[in-house]
Amino acid sequence: MSIPFISAEEAASYIKNGDNVGLSGFTASGTPKVVTVALAEKAKALHENGQPFKINLFTGASTNDHVDGELSRADAIAIRTPYQGHKDSRAKANSQGMNYFDLHLSHLSQDLRYGFYGDIDVAIIEATEMSPNGEVILGAGLGMAPTVAQMAKKVIIEYSSYYRNSFRGFHDIYVPEDLPNRREIPIYKPNDRIGTPVLKIDPKKIIGVVPSNASESIAPFTAPDELTQRIGDNICNFLVEQLRTGKLPKEFLPIQSGVGNVANAVLYGLGENPEIPQFDMYTEVIQDAVMKLMEEGKCRFASTCALTFSDEAMLHFMDNIDFFRDKVLMRPGEISNNPEVVRRLGLIAMNTALEADIYGNVNSTHVMGTKMMNGIGGSADFSRNAYLSIFSCPSIQKGGKISTIVPMVSHLDHSEHSVKVIATEQGVADLRGKDPRQRAETIIENCVHPMYKELMWDYVKLANKGGGHTPHNLGAAFALHQALQEKGDMLQADFGKFA
Ligand code: COA
Repeated sequence: MSIPFISAEEAASYIKNGDNVGLSGFTASGTPKVVTVALAEKAKALHENGQPFKINLFTGASTNDHVDGELSRADAIAIRTPYQGHKDSRAKANSQGMNYFDLHLSHLSQDLRYGFYGDIDVAIIEATEMSPNGEVILGAGLGMAPTVAQMAKKVIIEYSSYYRNSFRGFHDIYVPEDLPNRREIPIYKPNDRIGTPVLKIDPKKIIGVVPSNASESIAPFTAPDELTQRIGDNICNFLVEQLRTGKLPKEFLPIQSGVGNVANAVLYGLGENPEIPQFDMYTEVIQDAVMKLMEEGKCRFASTCALTFSDEAMLHFMDNIDFFRDKVLMRPGEISNNPEVVRRLGLIAMNTALEADIYGNVNSTHVMGTKMMNGIGGSADFSRNAYLSIFSCPSIQKGGKISTIVPMVSHLDHSEHSVKVIATEQGVADLRGKDPRQRAETIIENCVHPMYKELMWDYVKLANKGGGHTPHNLGAAFALHQALQEKGDMLQADFGKFA
């Protein structure tokens, strides 16, 4: 069966107002790059003519400017899930210009298969190789590609010629069995292959192939600065101590690490520390730092959903692709982030907080409890079930006007039950085995910036007057947030009126 090449504009013409559209990819990697740009143009033209046009957009994770940027600026998204990280879609979510709901990344594929959000009308899948019978080799990220390709009534392929070498063999495509008779996901080691290297799509559903040669356009990695380096060092030293005391097996455990500078600083720190043995990763994204660790022999293997490499690093990966063939496996998001596997493998999960409270609850998503930053992403897929879940952040933000450790988080993503360790550049609070009052003490002593310690102890004294297992003064619990809102500085918080 021959599948026609079509233009991005023609592909966009098949997508109707109100359609549920599912994309391949995870972060910018493996995400379509041309059809959504044409779709945004179509939306703008229709809006200028007074006609409505919005789609409901389902992706593996965040995307790129070609998707969330273009479609948000064109006001072409009605419903968005499970994650976004683009400034224009963030602005839409916070101005109530689109219905964004924040979801654990590992949940969405199954939710879709069971019809929680309706059918998938159109799937747009980035392919790097394809045969006429619908066998596709995906690109640098999978996300929900297998589920949306299987569910969609129509499939558009974006055929990328950007990659110099074949990705064949880097993917492990597996969709869990249907409920209620599902068996275990048979991953017992990070490098266990359980699925197929190709995605099979019914060729009758493929309406056309759109050529593309765009890169992922991921910005180059910036080297750790002093602050991130100190957080990274604190976490590395903590992990070394865990090894020395036998609280981590001497073989070490697989690592999950979020995106960003702290994650990179930790990985570099682990790479340089002679006491840390070779390790594997079981994670959702790997960044430039991991490639370097593999070349140095420190990281043996990474199971991931995407290669979130900068363009420069991706070219290096492509040039040395044979070296990486037995060291990297890309899985769908519902497997890379699967809590069952996370618990079985015993991961060391390292994620980032916007704020944490003195009892160990973490907010990763909402600034001042109201403004969505990005979303929970995969952080809870991992942290709830990890062997060790570590959350880190700088102790202050905005030159000290914000303390990231507060009496009570203004939004809850990860409860005290999912958070074992908190780290800032000040130090590490190990919360294991501690009751709430002991947790408050260790967090304040080890993680709070010196400029906020007295204020935090004042809160503890005030809260303790009321007693209870987790002492709080509900009037004063948000005094720091209120001071920031009213006076522009959390340090101006005054507990006097609550005493
Ligand atoms: N109150 C108000 N603003 C805050 C804040 C707080 N408690 N903490 C941070 N900010 C501001 C910073 O000042 C900064 O502002 P700017 O953009 O104006 O400079 C901005 O928020 C981002 O802070 P930064 O420290 O650079 O954050 P980051 O890039 O390390 O991202 C998260 C932190 C939490 C937003 C990010 O890790 C995330 O989205 N996590 C959830 C998803 C996730 O963990 N996925 C799993 C693994 S990939």
